[in-house]
Amino acid sequence: MANSKKLTAYEAATAATRARRMAWWTDARYGMFVHWGLYAQLGRNEWVLNIDCIPPREYETLADTWKPKPRPMREWAKLAVAAGMKYMVMTTKHHEGFCLWDSQLTDYNAVQRGPGRDLVAEYVDACREFGLKCGFYYSLMDWHHPDGIRCATDEKARRRFIDYTHGLVRELMSNYGKIDILWYDVAAPLKTAEQWESLAMNSMVRKLQPHILIDNRSYLEEDFSTPEGSVSPAGNGRGWEACMTFNDVSWGYMPSAACDAHGPRAILKMLHTCSANEGNLLLNIGPAPDGSVPTDAVAPLTAVGKWLKANGEAVYGKVQRGAPGMATATGCFSRKGKTAYFWCRHWMGPELVLGGFKTKLKTASLLVGGKNVRFTQKGRQIILTGLPKACPDKHAGVTVIKMEFASAPKHEFGQFKIW
Ligand code: GLC
Repeated sequence: MANSKKLTAYEAATAATRARRMAWWTDARYGMFVHWGLYAQLGRNEWVLNIDCIPPREYETLADTWKPKPRPMREWAKLAVAAGMKYMVMTTKHHEGFCLWDSQLTDYNAVQRGPGRDLVAEYVDACREFGLKCGFYYSLMDWHHPDGIRCATDEKARRRFIDYTHGLVRELMSNYGKIDILWYDVAAPLKTAEQWESLAMNSMVRKLQPHILIDNRSYLEEDFSTPEGSVSPAGNGRGWEACMTFNDVSWGYMPSAACDAHGPRAILKMLHTCSANEGNLLLNIGPAPDGSVPTDAVAPLTAVGKWLKANGEAVYGKVQRGAPGMATATGCFSRKGKTAYFWCRHWMGPELVLGGFKTKLKTASLLVGGKNVRFTQKGRQIILTGLPKACPDKHAGVTVIKMEFASAPKHEFGQFKIW
């Protein structure tokens, strides 16, 4: 079969199973990204080798000095569960090229160098122990392999590098049982799926892991898109997951960036934009060299976890796009069928006006505790009354009001439009 026909057949086959494979993921909405590698020891971003122009030989010595404590992934997994996250994605190899697993294809790996253990195996164990789905991040770009750069200009080097890359991916997909997500990153310096032989690589992956979800960074669209650094919803009908750092600066451990760590309200804002638009949030932590969770992440993640425990109905599961899609000054909505959830971010006291509804409201209640809220509806206005004076939510100051309509709510603000 010619390549384009093979690709069409492959895409049709993956599309046919996509909804079934992705069901858990679209319900989950929220996962933990973990960037952990040699760079953690320098504490100034995972690109440090490149940004600070460290001579490669000097950087390589970090492979021997890295001595993580036993099984820190259990701490990450425990935190992820407390945070209300449903899955994790860990860097098995970042751009630096160091393999965190027991690879037979390079000795630049965690078993043969400093750690002296298979960190990927420990990570997988932790996911299973804590009931989290398990994802592998894998950087196609490789700054350590001798062919990692020259593969772009030298066909023999490309051949060797592709064999190496496919071999590493095969190891990851063969040696750790069921893996739920393969999260490729940065497909440089090669420019096309043909050069990476992505179709063959991903076909192999799917043969070994028929249930797996694959992201869109191997020049094939695959199962979901990965907006990075900003929560920008993808087009309708396509799975998407926004990946975000914890501090807008660094994925890898960087203690000095703790001052910019997201608070619970900022995290909930991101999570809202994702969930209300049928997407996921993959929020990153960069553990310390010994594997400890960065302290600045613990309090905000735990607060959001407590909030989710009480308000998860508005976030997880079959949240649908669409009306009422826009935020108001006081909050924003998510929706499941006829039910809208108003996430009140700025509490107004006993009375709250919500404009724009063209559908009959049947009941309103506080999501937490279920207490009914009185209301009147006239024209496009809903006026909720008898609400508590002070914002009831103590975790993040975001109180959810559940509103059941006669049918899926139609919503439009006033007549003045600037678009
Ligand atoms: C970028 C960065 C990388 C990070 C990734 C996460 O591609 O190069 O450091 O791992 O984004 O999405």
